[in-house]
Amino acid sequence: MPAKQSDYPQQVSAVETATILELLESTVTANVPGDVVEFGCYKGDTSILLQKLLHSTDTTAKAKALWLYDSFEGLPPKTAEDASVAGDSFKAGELFVTKREVVAKFKKAGLRVPRIKKAFFEDLLDQDLPPQISFAFLDGDLYGSIKTSLALVTPRLSPGAIIIVHDYNNPELPGSAKAVDEYLHNHPTKKLAQKAALAIIR
Ligand SMILES: C[S@@+](CC[C@H](N)C(=O)[O-])C[C@H]1O[C@@H](n2cnc3c(N)ncnc32)[C@H](O)[C@@H]1O
Repeated sequence: MPAKQSDYPQQVSAVETATILELLESTVTANVPGDVVEFGCYKGDTSILLQKLLHSTDTTAKAKALWLYDSFEGLPPKTAEDASVAGDSFKAGELFVTKREVVAKFKKAGLRVPRIKKAFFEDLLDQDLPPQISFAFLDGDLYGSIKTSLALVTPRLSPGAIIIVHDYNNPELPGSAKAVDEYLHNHPTKKLAQKAALAIIR
């Protein structure tokens, strides 16, 4: 858990952050094998908390690598599935940040710098992903970004792994829920739980 309220990031609410960290910790405690990934790290606010938790817990957790993915060019263009008047401000190129800023943030915090891949998710290659994943946080905002990240992580999930998708049932970003609902329809053994705007998939 973050030490103080100011540790909570802006893109993800305090309740959501607490849930993400609790569930990450549960996969560590349960010894679920594999690494931790975040698709759409933006400024790295949640990433820092994921890494802090991995550093602060037992040696099993310290052996886990954190892998971050972002275009570092902001959002890609929306598709029809993302259409929303409420979400009009989420335009292509919004949420731009540099990889250098994220690296600097980890160094400043005295944390191991994660593997950070600058790419659109759609262009990622097999070798850009860990062979096994225990925990995935998917925060790409848009239909195509969530759909692609779900497709990339699924074949690598260990038994007991958890996927969390942000912006589920967020009227500003309806594409996220569409991608999750389609995924659940195509993977009927997967179970959904919800907390705030998080879809928790096991
Ligand atoms: C809402 S922000 C992520 C916030 C971050 N997870 C946090 O907790 O602070 C969304 C990020 O996803 C990235 N993104 C969205 N779709 C992408 C795609 N298809 N490929 C690469 N990056 C993408 C954007 O560049 C942006 O930085």
